[in-house]
Amino acid sequence: MILFKKAAEINDWLLKSKVSGQKIRFIPTMGALHPGHTSLIEASKQAGSISVCSIFVNPAQFNDATDFVNYPTTIEKDIDALEKAVCDVLFLPAVSEMYPAGNGNEKTYNLGYLETVLVGKYRPGHFQGVCLVVHRLLNIIPADDLYLGQKDYQQCMVIKKLVELEKLNTTIHICPTLRETSGLAMSSRNMRLTAEAREQAVKIFETLSYVKNNIKPGDVAALKQTAIDKLTNAGFNVDYVEIATAGNLDLINHWDGNRKLVAVAAAFLGDVRLIDNMLL
Ligand code: PAF
Repeated sequence: MILFKKAAEINDWLLKSKVSGQKIRFIPTMGALHPGHTSLIEASKQAGSISVCSIFVNPAQFNDATDFVNYPTTIEKDIDALEKAVCDVLFLPAVSEMYPAGNGNEKTYNLGYLETVLVGKYRPGHFQGVCLVVHRLLNIIPADDLYLGQKDYQQCMVIKKLVELEKLNTTIHICPTLRETSGLAMSSRNMRLTAEAREQAVKIFETLSYVKNNIKPGDVAALKQTAIDKLTNAGFNVDYVEIATAGNLDLINHWDGNRKLVAVAAAFLGDVRLIDNMLL
């Protein structure tokens, strides 16, 4: 695996590879890699050509400074996992490389409704920070294909919107969420959970499964409330459990029995914020 730390150097190398007919398959990450990430590398490898992974804990997308400081970093293990997954290129920039002019939000993206609900509502500015870094990464890494995990459902929609807004020539591939055998969605943040909290965390998956198994056409407000109560009783501090239209994240209280839906949840266990979703 070739490791680049400088934006100009990786950009130069990738542009030359493109000229020689190679396609660039890109997996952006914040490190603390787990099998969910390596499944994205595998998906990119199946498409052939060059798989590029980036590891950059992006300060601009943390609306909470403590969350940023506590974000897990396991760089040596990550490099090892990428070597095993036969990733071709790793981009590992410093903050000064990504934001030479400081990480103030130089640009704003018109994300509309998408940044007013769910994660957008509870983490103000988060999606602007995600757009800022992904836009910058895509300028450095001219990707033909971008691989994202469905676990960050709303982020996938935001990045699709970014690609549309900025007319980028990149196709987005959304890959399924990988789960532990317990059902817990794999996440870098799970590393911050104690063994006991990890068992408790499975309740998010169980609650979403409960919503999936019990939804019926008609009023769904009571079902959402039951789901919130289940998590609260299990010791979570719940930001939301919502049922939304899968295509645009319109929150619904009434289901016509036809529209494709997604159930989404975000809740804290201690100071660890966990999110998950399930197509219904
Ligand atoms: O999902 C993530 O790890 C991050 O939000 C991303 C897409 C790498 C941008 O920093």
